[in-house]
Amino acid sequence: MVLDKFSLKGKVGIVTGASRGIGHGIAMGLAEAGADLVLMGRVQETIEKAAKDVEAVGRKARAVVGDTAKEEDARRVVDETLKAFGRVDILVNAAGVTARAAAEDFPVDEWDRIMGVNLRGAFLMSVAAGKEMIQQKSGKIIHIASMGTYIGIPNASAYVASKGGVGQYTKNLAVEWAKYNIQVNAIAPGYIETDMTRPLKQNPERMESIMMRTPARRWGQPEELAGAAVFLASAASDFVTGHILDVDGGFMAG
Ligand SMILES: NC(=O)c1ccc[n+]([C@@H]2O[C@H](COP(=O)([O-])OP(=O)(O)OC[C@H]3O[C@@H](n4cnc5c(N)ncnc54)[C@H](OP(=O)(O)O)[C@@H]3O)[C@@H](O)[C@H]2O)c1
Repeated sequence: MVLDKFSLKGKVGIVTGASRGIGHGIAMGLAEAGADLVLMGRVQETIEKAAKDVEAVGRKARAVVGDTAKEEDARRVVDETLKAFGRVDILVNAAGVTARAAAEDFPVDEWDRIMGVNLRGAFLMSVAAGKEMIQQKSGKIIHIASMGTYIGIPNASAYVASKGGVGQYTKNLAVEWAKYNIQVNAIAPGYIETDMTRPLKQNPERMESIMMRTPARRWGQPEELAGAAVFLASAASDFVTGHILDVDGGFMAG
């Protein structure tokens, strides 16, 4: 039955950036679909709370405090996953940061920080988990791209550069790892209501231009990414790889 293919029962996933926002919304969706999860974030209290949220829907969860931009932390979260659950079937790279400044004034340290978490972090986590998936001869990797994967966004040059890289890295891993039965895809959210986008909501000019460009005429909620994530994490997408799935209220269609 086709709905059985969407089930994640018996699967083990890692979700980075799971303490809040999109990562949290996706983690809850994967858990509701049956996956046990290891959740990663930088702040102990919030990542432990997220693990409790997963347990509350009847799944097992572990919280790991770490920084995806650090190689030792990326390896450690995969080691902890193997120790707790013995395998890793799904990786969702949702940890991400941004900062706003005019392109000509973009601070070098902020550029490095954003590239470090958004692109280097996706690379380090993918390699750490991918090595296990290669041994297993199966795996699902989901990156979180952005509208910035396709288009420029005012005052977000580092973010857009990092998300352009995430889109291309998704395709490259898909091409290299298809032979190991690992599917690598990305979700490109439109404008979703989270801590990251709060400053935009307080800027009337940006709010108007975002709403004008979004045919659904509303912001998305973190839980609205869960359906796409469950699909890309499940057997229902076994012949889908290297794809960037827009969940954007029609933004990119306009
Ligand atoms: N919101 C949108 O409209 C939108 C649109 C397109 C794409 N995205 C992407 O979606 C992802 C999540 O964004 P969001 O809006 O949910 O942001 P958010 O609400 O600010 O949450 C960011 C998450 O990433 C974690 N994080 C940040 N740096 C980390 C690091 N170095 N190591 C581990 N965890 C880290 C944070 O946890 P701690 O604070 O505990 O570290 C938090 O859980 C990002 O990749 C973002 O670029 C968002």
